[in-house]
Amino acid sequence: AKAEPLKVMISGAPASGKGTQCELITQKYGLVHIAAGDLLRVEVAAASENGKRAKEYMEKGELVPDEIVVMMVKERLLQPDSQEKGWLLDGYPRSSSQAAALEDFGIHPDIFILLEVPEDNLVERVVGRRLDPLTGKIYHLKYSPPESEEIASRLTQRFDDTEERVKLRLHTHHQNVEAVLSTYKDITVKVNGNVAKENVFAQIDAALTELLEQREVNSGSL
Ligand code: AP5
Repeated sequence: AKAEPLKVMISGAPASGKGTQCELITQKYGLVHIAAGDLLRVEVAAASENGKRAKEYMEKGELVPDEIVVMMVKERLLQPDSQEKGWLLDGYPRSSSQAAALEDFGIHPDIFILLEVPEDNLVERVVGRRLDPLTGKIYHLKYSPPESEEIASRLTQRFDDTEERVKLRLHTHHQNVEAVLSTYKDITVKVNGNVAKENVFAQIDAALTELLEQREVNSGSL
């Protein structure tokens, strides 16, 4: 029988490196990357009704209301590609009500990866972050600079990536994180996110490899 696809959640404070690690994880494991923040930014860019409302909250560093986010993420999770290839859920759930909604829908991950980075480093990461609008790749002016002048000239910055706004996002994170962590404590793997991105990935890769090996043992095929 075909193995069940992997279902992975990745979590951590703002700018702890979730998006960066998701690029590396999808390259190796072929999972469908579903980022709540990216789904919301698509709506904001399209200036849809949901997008206009979401932007008000995102600018304040607050959580966008559940009535916008919950169905948006659920629908993406239930699409055929996510079901067939497996999924990598980034930045969701972010509150006890979102975690409860997922459990109610019967959506449960195999593993919950928690990136740990000291708070002092997060502001520097946010302020130096740049994005390539053409490829979606994440850069940092100091830690992950663009490969060419051409790329450098087209990089953009997120509207919520200022020192003031990241402090608000951190405050929101602290208010909600414990409730989410307690939901997934039995399947949580803590990763040191304060090393070079390749070394962060090596820890995640080891955890996912172990999970897949464990499954094979459990299914009696080893
Ligand atoms: P979201 O887009 O999810 O933002 P976030 O959680 O603040 O996380 P970031 O995307 O800022 O950071 P990241 O952890 O992906 O780090 P990255 O890899 O880019 O959410 C934005 C807003 O949307 C929220 O404030 C909220 O309003 C709303 N929202 C989202 N989800 C929601 C939900 N579930 N419910 C309600 N509202 C929701 O890395 C950051 C920088 O550091 C980059 O420049 C990178 O190059 C660099 N870097 C990465 N790794 C390393 C490393 N190991 N060493 C050095 N530098 C590194």
